[in-house]
Amino acid sequence: MMLVLGAGYVGAKLAELALDAGEEVVLADNWYATRRGQLAPLEERGAQIETADIRSRADLARLFSLRPARVYLLAAQASRPIAEREPDYTEETNVAGVRRVAEAAAENGAPPLVFASSLNVYGRELAGEITAERPYGDQGDLAHLTKVYGELCLGLFARRAGFDLAVLRLGIVYGPSRVEHDTPDSQTVVDKFRRLAARGEHLPLDDDGRATIGVVHVEDAARIMLSSPASTGVTFANVAAETITVADVAALIRGEEPAGAPAFTVASPFTYEQTLRDYLRP
Ligand SMILES: NC(=O)c1ccc[n+]([C@@H]2O[C@H](COP(=O)([O-])OP(=O)(O)OC[C@H]3O[C@@H](n4cnc5c(N)ncnc54)[C@H](O)[C@@H]3O)[C@@H](O)[C@H]2O)c1
Repeated sequence: MMLVLGAGYVGAKLAELALDAGEEVVLADNWYATRRGQLAPLEERGAQIETADIRSRADLARLFSLRPARVYLLAAQASRPIAEREPDYTEETNVAGVRRVAEAAAENGAPPLVFASSLNVYGRELAGEITAERPYGDQGDLAHLTKVYGELCLGLFARRAGFDLAVLRLGIVYGPSRVEHDTPDSQTVVDKFRRLAARGEHLPLDDDGRATIGVVHVEDAARIMLSSPASTGVTFANVAAETITVADVAALIRGEEPAGAPAFTVASPFTYEQTLRDYLRP
């Protein structure tokens, strides 16, 4: 059985692929950003849905007593705007909650663990090729600053307790999933632009869309997660199929040829099946 902590956008797709592969799946969430009802199609397919908060030792003890063969830590307060309004909740979940998951793993058979981190740990104003060896950089918000703590804290417990840990630094994830959030604060740029364009609305380009982003289709991200950890020990890898400017995302949506001048490129060891061009083709 695999345990997915955080039954949100990525967690729902991960569970779907795991069920396709015949795996038993437990999906746990405290329904902060996701509604339980959104998981009904996965529950019908046999996924076990649990209400649990990663800030609660008792909830984690209950879930880990199920003896999962692998644990995916995707539960987070992941939104930058919400982090401005709810810094305490962001830290309690992303800092104390992550540490409690690490403790629960260490105390309950040390199952392999996969942590969904972010390319944002490298900081801003990047240039050149971004490999997983690049040091951490300056952070612009608590949702991403806490990823740095999460990575290091899980690494500490993994080494101490001897569990395998794959830290996957995701780019912006796009594409359809059973769980999609309709609040603007929880939408990321690719799907936000796609929805605006579908309604014939203007695509807002801050700083002329010069910002560079790494992007990955949710199916590719979930497939990569499902086969992680792929090696023993503590490993770090980037999960981004393409690196593109926000202006070029808008160009693809309009059916125009992208200018193709990202400020940096993201190196990733995985293979990817989906392209932004195919997804955004008008
Ligand atoms: N989606 C992206 O573009 C992206 C990019 C980089 C990194 N990530 C990371 O990947 C992970 C999954 O992202 P997502 O897009 O599925 O986010 P999401 O918000 O859809 O899923 C996170 C889930 O965690 C739950 N949650 C929040 N606080 C909790 C708590 N205290 N206890 C239990 N559950 C709690 C939420 O209700 C939500 O369902 C996150 O850690 C996120 O930071 C996502």
